Amino acid sequence: MSRVESLLRSMTIEEKIGQLNLVTAGQTVTGPVVHVETTAEIRAGRVGGVFNLWGREAMAAAQKLAAEGTRLGVPLFFGLDILHGHRTIFPIPLAEAGAFDPLLWERTARVAAIEAAHEGVSLTFAPMLDVARDPRWGRIAEGPGEDPLVAVKMAEAKIRGFQDRALEAPTSIAATAKHFCAYGAATAGRDYAAVDVSERALHEIYLPPFRAAVEAGCAAIMPGFNSLAGVPMTAHARLLREYLRRDLGFDGVIISDYTAIAELIEHGVAGDLTDAAALALRAGVDMDMMSMAYVRRLPEALARGLVDLADVDAAARRVLLLKERLGLFDDPYRSIAAGEYSRAAHRELARDAARRSITLLSNDDILPLSADVRRIAVIGPLADARAEMLGPWYSAGAAEDCVTILEGLRFALPNCEVVFHAGAGIEDDDASGIAPACDMAAGADVIVLCLGEAEKMSGEAASRAMIGLPGRQRELAERILATGVPVVALLSSGRPLAVSWLVERARAVLATWFLGDMAGHAIADVLTGRYNPSARLAVTWPREVGQIPIFYASRSTGRPWNADNRYTSRYLDLPVEPLFPFGHGLSYSHVVLSNLRVAPSDISADGTVEIVIDAQNIGAFETEETIFVFVRDVVASIARPLMELKGWVKIVFSPGESRTVALTLSADSFSFPDENMKPKIEPGQFEILVGLDADRKNLLATVLNITST
Ligand code: NOJ
Repeated sequence: MSRVESLLRSMTIEEKIGQLNLVTAGQTVTGPVVHVETTAEIRAGRVGGVFNLWGREAMAAAQKLAAEGTRLGVPLFFGLDILHGHRTIFPIPLAEAGAFDPLLWERTARVAAIEAAHEGVSLTFAPMLDVARDPRWGRIAEGPGEDPLVAVKMAEAKIRGFQDRALEAPTSIAATAKHFCAYGAATAGRDYAAVDVSERALHEIYLPPFRAAVEAGCAAIMPGFNSLAGVPMTAHARLLREYLRRDLGFDGVIISDYTAIAELIEHGVAGDLTDAAALALRAGVDMDMMSMAYVRRLPEALARGLVDLADVDAAARRVLLLKERLGLFDDPYRSIAAGEYSRAAHRELARDAARRSITLLSNDDILPLSADVRRIAVIGPLADARAEMLGPWYSAGAAEDCVTILEGLRFALPNCEVVFHAGAGIEDDDASGIAPACDMAAGADVIVLCLGEAEKMSGEAASRAMIGLPGRQRELAERILATGVPVVALLSSGRPLAVSWLVERARAVLATWFLGDMAGHAIADVLTGRYNPSARLAVTWPREVGQIPIFYASRSTGRPWNADNRYTSRYLDLPVEPLFPFGHGLSYSHVVLSNLRVAPSDISADGTVEIVIDAQNIGAFETEETIFVFVRDVVASIARPLMELKGWVKIVFSPGESRTVALTLSADSFSFPDENMKPKIEPGQFEILVGLDADRKNLLATVLNITST
């Protein structure tokens, strides 16, 4: 009999339930403070895993209590949110998504896993796979952006990076795909709010990343805080038990979100904590994070017949199997993971990831900075804001490891005079610094204006109804723009900001998001032209809040927008188009595409097609270009989105270089869920659209026929 089975046999019901309990150690606070005597609970055998704890000593002390101080010595696992690096902090996921580079996504996760495993962490609550189309929602910062294919690719890459080839490898950590599912569709972008999306939207947009996560062998899944059409995800038996377990065959651990089981009462589907515990367990939630509902109430729920012992056994078995897979029974301290690693190499990767995540939104011939620039005024509250560079969810990252924008520029331009004034705070109302900042800026050759959000303004519980610049920053910017000195504006933020007015008037605008430890160096690399910007927007950038939700893959209407016809789908006071489309991002070079063709032009439902295009770099810089392939099913039984991303190719072009670029798609890329949500290909015409962003006007188009035979 396997170790796990014989262990299960020797466990009391209380010990089994203890395995289902996940409690915080409070080294970092990621939810409401709930009073739990962690040490006493571990000693009593009532804890299966501990989170928010890292560092060898702390971890070993807790592990000793479990592995050496409880009757059966079942080791704990240690969980932590590692969204974009552990010690070494990389760009926030939304920014890194813009690199459109699965290999980079995997490498940063691998490094994070190495650093975290080194400090005793065995599981992370990542990757976050919530497709999000509403930048009011602060958690858009944590995920892959608006597109399901990007989310799928990110799921695969991050899980490979965290888990590596096998979980028992000393530097592997278990990944938790979250938040299952559609949490990103929170009503009006308000965190934790209810979600009500169609079954079709689930199957087309929100479920595919989780399917990919399961196929990639993800060890755990976390249901979201949200309800879905009235059913909280923590109690969603149909999606957890039927879809994940039965249909996808997911056999890993389902871990509740923080106090989410107790919240079933507030949702209005459970009368008390016993009810809540029973609902969650019956739905398939194996572990209870911070509700203490399982340890306190499952015994009663069992006695009252609300749950079966078989459900407790199955959940405990999955937790024990995870520990077995992690090698914790043989090496509870994961001592071999403690080997050294090169922090310098990790920081080098952080710099590369950061510059590959910077999106050049506009550039009126001011960047890269000319060699003649002698005096630069660095102005704004984000210019020298070390801690803000980390962004939300910075795990064990430290402000002192961050390079500020000011430092990066001074380091990169030793022969320039680089003067600095914050001008204003990020959020406060004090405008007294604006005039001195303008005085300082007046004599400069160029102003680098560093604006944006504080890191705590995105991530969890950080929704914003107005997504402009907070505090007095707009006033600062207007006054700086009025000096007449050319302005390069940098936007540090966890979301697109509504700043059309700035884009109209600044000579260049860059989305610098939250780039992590090496922010300053990476930004200097881009401004000076040492690195030619290559990132693309993984999310549509709105002009104003009123356009939200806004995303490229919308459906047509019976009355598509037409500026000359009032009775079409439009606003009276704003264009329908975004400020910048999905995929937008400039470089210092210019690649032109021509001669799009498909071969063959007719395929059958089991065929493949090669999409081919000629591309030439007509600029003077080496450039890394991302070429997107979108598809539109022209006539279908169910109206299809105007465009759906089906793939992309990233290519480095030397100056002047011409290349023929090809991407192969199989016919199943052209399928969509039928009325039973099963994939179906309807023969007919498909438009193939290829280009550098999702603005239809910029795309080349051709037609592919899928035949019925
Ligand atoms: C709540 C968040 O929703 C979730 O993403 C996170 O993993 C847990 N807190 C634990 O910190």
